[in-house]
Amino acid sequence: MHARPHSPSPATDDAALAQWVRGLPKAELHLHLEGTVAPETLVSLSRRNDEEPLTLDAAQSLYRYTDFTGFLLAFKAITERLRTPEDYEEITYAMMRGLRAAGVAHAEVYVSVGVVYYWRRIEFEPLFAGMERGRMRGEHDFGVSVLWIFDAVRHFGPEEAARVFRKAAEMQALHSSIVGIGVGGDERRTGAEPFRDLYAEARQAGLHLTAHAGETVGPEGIWSAINIGAERLGHALSAERDDELIEVLAQKQIPLEICITSNVRTGCCVKVEDHPVRNYFDRGLMVTLNSDDPALFGSDLAEEYLLASRVFGFTAEHLRELAGNSVEASLLPPARKLQLLRQIEQYPDFEDRAR
Ligand code: HPA
Ligand code: ZN
Repeated sequence: MHARPHSPSPATDDAALAQWVRGLPKAELHLHLEGTVAPETLVSLSRRNDEEPLTLDAAQSLYRYTDFTGFLLAFKAITERLRTPEDYEEITYAMMRGLRAAGVAHAEVYVSVGVVYYWRRIEFEPLFAGMERGRMRGEHDFGVSVLWIFDAVRHFGPEEAARVFRKAAEMQALHSSIVGIGVGGDERRTGAEPFRDLYAEARQAGLHLTAHAGETVGPEGIWSAINIGAERLGHALSAERDDELIEVLAQKQIPLEICITSNVRTGCCVKVEDHPVRNYFDRGLMVTLNSDDPALFGSDLAEEYLLASRVFGFTAEHLRELAGNSVEASLLPPARKLQLLRQIEQYPDFEDRAR
């Protein structure tokens, strides 16, 4: 990726660049299955499940929030409307259609197993069977691959996280599509330390470790995630405030799952121009772009790349480099990584396309 000269100025032709970005093969590493569900889909699921189906207005009202706490509640409200294996099959398949439209070749998708267990106390296996059916149909129809990461909700505490991670370990033996674990939720209520032993246990079981870190709290949240062994960090928004941390992230090349629109929409980053993504990139951090919860934020991965170009002056060649990062930081086997990296490298130059 580094061999190409970077064009001196940001790409400016919006429509042509949008088309180029949508065609650029890339991976999405921070995407919540439940956060891909559109209000219209909730209505359609509800028609199947409920005697008094949800109206579109009522569904849309679930998606309204004004701050990070409200966002977490909206996410939970959506998740609670997902009931049957068929629901999970349908949303997985619809997610993959959306990924295809954004030019995503591969996605690593968080599923909030923590919410299923903690709030709903229902068995996860049947729902997962639905997800797997959706995934296989989606792979076949859209040519997109998906791997699963089981996400716990940190403010439900280590006992709940233990159930989620142990379920991931147990099910991984049967399903090679399960590759890792993570914690999301409200960092203001707990850092990563209480999960240290559970992370060690998950690693022992052969799972990869991710963590949302430094989204709503300072750099200490990122240090603690690194200290318990997180291999990939979600958001890492506050790393900018700590030069020593930046040094460590650069030296270890710990992949950052950056979610620009998410941070602005949840109020974690007040103005988009203040987002540290360009600063991180220029300082040599392993930056990847991601959409997090596209149905809640009104974005998708192609839009995130375009935003990076428009607001932060990333050139088309920078965007190609970010796509390369996303594949390198993925949990795919080396042969598949190489194949995708080659596709990214061979993708035409933006200028050639525009001419
Ligand atoms: N942060 C914390 N919790 C979440 C997120 C997030 O980005 N998305 C879904 N749950
Ligand atoms: Zn997230």
